[in-house]
Amino acid sequence: MNVVVSNVKGGVGKTTTAVYLAASAVERGLQPVLLVDADRQASSAEWLEARPIEGVELEEAPSERTVARAMERHEGFAVVDTPPGDERVVRAAVERADAVVIPTRAGGIEFTRVVATVEMVPPETPYGIVICAARLGTNDLGQTIAWWEAERVPIWGVVPERVAIASGPEGRLSREGIEVYSDVLRRALRRRPR
Ligand SMILES: Nc1ncnc2c1ncn2[C@@H]1O[C@H](COP(=O)(O)OP(=O)(O)OP(=O)(O)O)[C@@H](O)[C@H]1O
Ligand SMILES: [Mg+2]
Repeated sequence: MNVVVSNVKGGVGKTTTAVYLAASAVERGLQPVLLVDADRQASSAEWLEARPIEGVELEEAPSERTVARAMERHEGFAVVDTPPGDERVVRAAVERADAVVIPTRAGGIEFTRVVATVEMVPPETPYGIVICAARLGTNDLGQTIAWWEAERVPIWGVVPERVAIASGPEGRLSREGIEVYSDVLRRALRRRPR
């Protein structure tokens, strides 16, 4: 099974989401978990090199061909981190996904980029958004959630803005982060038709 983390927009929380989903998958007993890094910037790869996660293996696959092969070859559970902008690589990954997690931020400007990502997802493939670095209790977040609900886009998670999560490979994974992302993973694994 392949869970692909994608948004054509940069800096929304894809890599953070991919790493936390991989750690959550290990906790769920899905080992061995493969983290496929399809981004030439290799942020997931650098993260895991700086701070390996027990039970998570890494494969760098920064092209259409390598990401397709990585996703088709393994027999277990994989999370795929994708690049911003490189639409062909994103498409290659999303087309082969069993579920697509789309990280986004609260705020109006995000909508069109999410829609551009959703449009790449094959009709039978479940997807959901994760609102990253969310300021809980703000009007902005409330309006964003209401907007997505009105658009009938499933919200698989709301991840609060936290220093411990922002520290990336500089710090240990945050317990709160793993718990929120475990919920996202549970939804992604449910594979229910939309
Ligand atoms: N829940 C959170 N709380 C605070 N900061 C966060 C949270 N999630 C992500 N961030 C921060 O947001 C920034 C962008 O995150 P990340 O690198 O995961 O995004 P990305 O979509 O992979 O970026 P790129 O498009 O460059 O690959 C990072 O500085 C990260 O630490
Ligand atoms: Mg990234």
